[in-house]
Amino acid sequence: MNADDLKKQAAARALELVRPGMRLGLGTGSTAAHFVAALGAKVRAGNLDVVGVPTSESTWRLAVEHGVPLTSLDETPELDLTVDGADEVDGRLRLIKGGGGALLREKIVAAASARMIVIADESKVVE
Ligand code: A5P
Repeated sequence: MNADDLKKQAAARALELVRPGMRLGLGTGSTAAHFVAALGAKVRAGNLDVVGVPTSESTWRLAVEHGVPLTSLDETPELDLTVDGADEVDGRLRLIKGGGGALLREKIVAAASARMIVIADESKVVE
């Protein structure tokens, strides 16, 4: 399995934890993009009623493209769950993020979320 397949697999696992009616934070980067695409497919299939707050312009565009309904923190200040990627993660789950240039918005959206799921393939694991 290549790195992109692993990212897709991680995104699919995160999608299993999304419930109808959830207010979601949508992360930035190639891994989070798989989550947004999979989320959009489920929304378009009529199987999921959610709203998302994007953490970057690129995620905003991607969500629109995939049909994920969007909101903002002004309209929806409390989120149930944020799904985002990471640049590095260690065994104590300490993360380095921000490689995609969206760190500030990622932190604001994560702070507004009751829960955060970080999706990462094994190449992100460091000591
Ligand atoms: C964006 O600012 C970052 O925090 C990304 O979440 C991080 O760089 C992971 O990106 P990839 O999923 O593209 O590796």
